[in-house]
Amino acid sequence: MLKIAVLVSGGGTNLQAVIDAIADGTIANAKIEAVISNNKNAYALKRAENHGIKNICISPKDFESREAFNREFLLKLNSYQVDLVVLAGFLVVIPPEMIAAYKNRIINIHPSLIPSFCGTGFYGLKVHEGALARGVKLTGATVHFVDEGTDTGPILLQKAVAVKEGDTPEILQRRVMEEAEWKILPEAIHLIANGRIAVEDGKAVVR
Ligand code: GAR
Repeated sequence: MLKIAVLVSGGGTNLQAVIDAIADGTIANAKIEAVISNNKNAYALKRAENHGIKNICISPKDFESREAFNREFLLKLNSYQVDLVVLAGFLVVIPPEMIAAYKNRIINIHPSLIPSFCGTGFYGLKVHEGALARGVKLTGATVHFVDEGTDTGPILLQKAVAVKEGDTPEILQRRVMEEAEWKILPEAIHLIANGRIAVEDGKAVVR
């Protein structure tokens, strides 16, 4: 059984998709061990609570320095002894020590087709604003492993979504979530939980 920690900052609709997919068997052989948020008001924490999942808040704001936060954050995560860390709308930079300790064991969902509209400054609605400003006709979502860069790790799964006439960033965000994010994040977890993903030469391959 793959033990997972889900890291969140906001509404937690991706967390909900993972909870539902475990409940209905779309994800087999996995269990959410804990939900960790940097924001105590995140609705995602309430979702965890509603499903009886351990949940905590740890925020950089409550520490004297980023180093002190990073140390405690890693200790906290380690205490849950998870096999996989899922970033589901988590807006804090993952400390380098955590990336090293969890190599190829941290995945992130990003709301675009990487390498478009990703990297520093592209998160949440900003990604969709960027896509609309550029006038792309297709966007989508990507699940990737997390490495030292921002949105640069091996790509696991991607799904394209059409941009439509009259889209606002909010409308497009919702379509990308419904048609892509809530599908490929559970699918990626299922593949990992069932030994179907390998990383070779810096690329993720599905077997
Ligand atoms: C999602 O759209 C996710 O892809 C995005 O934040 C949103 C969180 O929504 N993540 C990023 O932009 C990361 N760079 P949720 O809390 O409802 O899952």
